[in-house]
Amino acid sequence: MAELPDVFDPRRYAAGPPHAAYRELRDHHPVAWQAEPEVLGWPAGPGFWAVTRHADVVAVLKDAGTFSSTLGATQIRDPDPGDLPFIRRMMLNQDPPHHGSLRRLVSRAFTPGRIERFEALVRERARALLTRARDQAEDGVVDLVAAVTDDYALLNLADLLGVPPGDRGLLLEWTERVIAYQDPDEPPVLGADGRPVNPRSPAMLADMFGYAQELAAHKRERPADDLMTSLAHAELADAELEMFFFLLTVAGNDTVRAAAPGGLLALAEHPHERAKLTNGQVAVDVAIEELLRWHPPVLSFRRTAGHATVLAGQPVAAGDKVVVFHASANHDERVFTDPHRLDLARSPNPHVSFGDGPHLCLGAPFARLQLRVLHEEALRVLPRTELAAPPRRLVSNFINGVKSLDVRVS
Ligand code: HEM
Repeated sequence: MAELPDVFDPRRYAAGPPHAAYRELRDHHPVAWQAEPEVLGWPAGPGFWAVTRHADVVAVLKDAGTFSSTLGATQIRDPDPGDLPFIRRMMLNQDPPHHGSLRRLVSRAFTPGRIERFEALVRERARALLTRARDQAEDGVVDLVAAVTDDYALLNLADLLGVPPGDRGLLLEWTERVIAYQDPDEPPVLGADGRPVNPRSPAMLADMFGYAQELAAHKRERPADDLMTSLAHAELADAELEMFFFLLTVAGNDTVRAAAPGGLLALAEHPHERAKLTNGQVAVDVAIEELLRWHPPVLSFRRTAGHATVLAGQPVAAGDKVVVFHASANHDERVFTDPHRLDLARSPNPHVSFGDGPHLCLGAPFARLQLRVLHEEALRVLPRTELAAPPRRLVSNFINGVKSLDVRVS
């Protein structure tokens, strides 16, 4: 059999998602076997099925009875079997019905009213960061990732959680530690054997969990309008509360940190489309959906087949890893007309950037708020940005990260 295109190797993603490879898989091998060789010091794995068509991605995400989030958790790389019981305490790595009961408890903390109350704060932050970036640009050029979007995502999350200003450096340290980038610029923590330590193992997280408990105790004494106050008053076991704090720092930071520059990049590259926002032809909240389709912050999520099944004609054995590729589903010609054209007015826009099924992103309203406000303010403060250098992208098959975005602002 001819060799199938590789959509696993994280190094490929430094040039952006491999759209030509995705398309070939969608057209000819919609459920394609991928080898998982050792790469950049990360150990080899047994391989997995890559799912690239929109309909199949949605089917996998909706069918938790067949495609489990619990059996092997949700990252492509297999966790250390010893760490699995611990990792499974996180809602993200649970299946119904247990998942549903935890999700109901915590979703009460994400009320629409609470999210909306953050708008003024988020807007003030966007405006201040963008204005500072414009004023500090050297020779008219500024890196929007370093000057704006990294801080924006982290500080907004800190506000939502209710992390006091003095502790925000800790939050940054933990998010950097728990996101296991494959990027050579972000060297992993090495163990005594010289191999990368799994940053999500219990040993790595003890101080973060201690902090989550301290913060919850503080919120019980001094309640505020934030997520940790709600969680501290919910009927969560200690371990559930700790895991939820951990999940939020991972899920709530890097995603927005990737979506924000991804959208700014797309607009800088498409000035004619951007003009439709400036002149009011397209509403910003409609455009946000297209920017999320175009640049999905999350590139893949993993499931494990709980029993033998057939997916798009391909037999899948019990225990096989099945990985969905969001950027491929979002560019599937079977669903999106002219998918490689940025069309800010696109509607309907059934992108899967927030996932689907029982694990559909719980933070989507907060993410959408942050992105809408950032773009509204950017259109006012920096209406005519042009790319000053090619963006640098993260080496990762999980997060569609942008490491630098140099733009000319004058
Ligand atoms: C543009 C930004 C974001 C994107 C693209 C995104 C994407 C996703 C995706 C694809 C999933 C599903 C995972 C799966 O299928 O296993 C997910 C789950 C989740 N996200 Fe987001 N996310 C974003 C922002 C946020 C924010 C800001 C928060 C919190 C403040 C958040 C909290 C969560 C949580 C708690 C889950 C787990 C839900 C569950 O297991 O039931 N996300 N997200």
